[in-house]
Amino acid sequence: MSISCYENVSEDVKKLIKMDTQNTSYVIGIVDDDMFVGHMYYGVRLNDYHLAHVLRIQEIPFLPSKNNRERTSFLDSFPMEYPTYGLGDYREDCISIETKGGHRGLSLQYVSDKVYEGKPALEGLPASFGDEDACSSVEICCEDPYTGLQVELLYTVFDKRDVITRSVKVINKGEDALHVTKVFSACLDMDNRDFEVVSLHGSWARERQIQSVPVSHGKFSVESVRGESSHQDHPFMAIRTRGTNQEHGEVYAMHFVYSGNFKAAVQNDQFDQIRMVMGIHPENFKWKLEPGQAFQAPEVVMLYTQDGMGGMTRILHDFYRNHLIRGEYKDKKRPILLNNWEATYFDFNTDKLIGIAKQASRLGIEMLVMDDGWFGNRFDDNRALGDWTVNEEKLPGGLKYLADEVNKLGMKLGIWFEPEMISPDSDLYRAHPDWAIAIPGRPGSLCRNQYVLDLSRRDVLEHVYESIAKVLRSANIEYVKWDMNRQLSDLGSAFLPADQMGELYHRYVLGVYELQGRMTEEFPYLLLENCSGGGGRFDPGMLYYSPQIWCSDDTDAIERLKIQEGTALIYPLSTMGAHVSDCPNHVLGRVTPFETRGHVALSGTFGYELDVTKIPEEDRRMIPEQVSMYHKYNDLIRQGDYYRIASYSENHFYDCYGVVDKDKKEALYTFVQVLNRPNRHSERLYFRGLDPDRWYRIEGEEETFSGDVLMNAGYLLQSLEGDFKSKLIHIVERSE
Ligand code: GLA
Repeated sequence: MSISCYENVSEDVKKLIKMDTQNTSYVIGIVDDDMFVGHMYYGVRLNDYHLAHVLRIQEIPFLPSKNNRERTSFLDSFPMEYPTYGLGDYREDCISIETKGGHRGLSLQYVSDKVYEGKPALEGLPASFGDEDACSSVEICCEDPYTGLQVELLYTVFDKRDVITRSVKVINKGEDALHVTKVFSACLDMDNRDFEVVSLHGSWARERQIQSVPVSHGKFSVESVRGESSHQDHPFMAIRTRGTNQEHGEVYAMHFVYSGNFKAAVQNDQFDQIRMVMGIHPENFKWKLEPGQAFQAPEVVMLYTQDGMGGMTRILHDFYRNHLIRGEYKDKKRPILLNNWEATYFDFNTDKLIGIAKQASRLGIEMLVMDDGWFGNRFDDNRALGDWTVNEEKLPGGLKYLADEVNKLGMKLGIWFEPEMISPDSDLYRAHPDWAIAIPGRPGSLCRNQYVLDLSRRDVLEHVYESIAKVLRSANIEYVKWDMNRQLSDLGSAFLPADQMGELYHRYVLGVYELQGRMTEEFPYLLLENCSGGGGRFDPGMLYYSPQIWCSDDTDAIERLKIQEGTALIYPLSTMGAHVSDCPNHVLGRVTPFETRGHVALSGTFGYELDVTKIPEEDRRMIPEQVSMYHKYNDLIRQGDYYRIASYSENHFYDCYGVVDKDKKEALYTFVQVLNRPNRHSERLYFRGLDPDRWYRIEGEEETFSGDVLMNAGYLLQSLEGDFKSKLIHIVERSE
């Protein structure tokens, strides 16, 4: 068992709970007669548990004291496991409520704990999982004796993965209804050690760019109040000691398994102590709890490593591949697909699609995905969302005929949906205008000429599910691209009463989870790919339902280097939707070689987003070669360890990353020379992840090299001729 409890450790520490992973320890202390749940330690694994002296609770002048006279000073500096609002801890808190009398103050006392093997599911929410061999959990039950509010802090230790997950459940054990106005899922208090904070920011077509800034006094936060995790900020935050690089340095990371509004913040206080928190954004969040009712807050995945950013990356990749992603395609190679969006936009019909499929199947492509425009009156993006019946004008014989024809070519068929939306110009809206999220009497803000459906309503949710299921039952559809093309605004539900209107954002997300959960249960063979105007809802919550997510609408190979670097920082390559598209690129107008586009897309799920009947013959001829590269390398790419070698966003000239198999017998490094430079005839690449004591052969070269030479002395790669060029370097262990 990786969780141990010790009673009466010192005069102040009544109980100590120590969680150990292979390389880290996390320690909680139950402190003082008031039984505060204090945070004692998170870092390198400790063998000992005598830590009482690390808590700042001594009664010396000018230091916060725990006696009642100086209670607020104590609360304002004591490292809390789950800080509450309103009684004297003025730092960013984790929970606040509003009682019947309009009061907000809350304080939590330890009541009991329960330690067990395994991990419980979180009701209605995506969450990581693990059986009894993989993890053990502790539930710490705390209570505010004045309101009767109970809070259960759940920690699960994945000892072999160096990950601890956390979540929080709030139960109203009092006699009156109350509102929870904020409920975060995790908090980490510690001294500042010259930390930097790392986060991911972006916009449409420029998702997940890596940023790092020093942690200074005050607060730094990233957030979404857009109803989805968003293109703009990402539900991830890490702090690292200054000088941390890919291989060395301490990193603490938090990642939210949630797809809606979130906030993550790090605050450096007056005593140079930092607090890092993460949870559902409190803006427009107000959840009513009648006596006996409970609220389950989503999960945060937390880790600590001394092995730099690369160490963090590999911990998260392994964790998500083994403990979050599910379903038929969890460990499987995905079919190489061709999506018709950039190929045809709305201008397609059955004949055109079959023409493309015929050519595609000859080239080795395995699935045709019919994107937006196959339903209702959807001739452009101004109408028909909600009308999920096949447009027989475009598709005579319907989906069944199309699927059968595509199947006859030996290919699978996939389709696009945007189930959460409703166009004002749709039969659905004409029949049910009150099904859209809106503030009564106020004209709603349109985005892409559409509104969002009120998924907090059971009738709407059932209707949406049936519309999708009916389509999927009607033909052999083996893949769904689930899109979500606008963010929420004008929050109002015709169904929720005024004192529950603040539940809409979260109920909406729960509705999305329920729909995707039901769909993947009824159609377990489906490959689901989430999408949101590109990568606007790429988060661990969605990964629980779909093993892959469309990374970005920006398919330009050079822009993708940064997007995929930021995405791969925390997500396995097997999750990154990446396609080769046509040139000039539809977002940027940039022209890059077909070969480079292929190399860059290979490190994701791989597929095509172009009309194979129209591209230049020399590009088309390259497709079978790319297809065979996909089959040759995909197991390695999907399952291997990822290493970042050089970053174009840092050096502005070239990019290099690699994947090494778990046995260190094989590696594939991708090099992209973005801009050539005069007088620079070669780049020295310091490969990582190889075994220093083994000998390796580089495919296409005679000479063999030892792992330690390739990693420490480097490998000299001759510069490629021109800009936007790329090369794959395949390394295999030399057989004696
Ligand atoms: C979004 C997606 C695109 C495409 C269009 C269709 O923008 O990101 O890939 O599916 O919608 O309208």
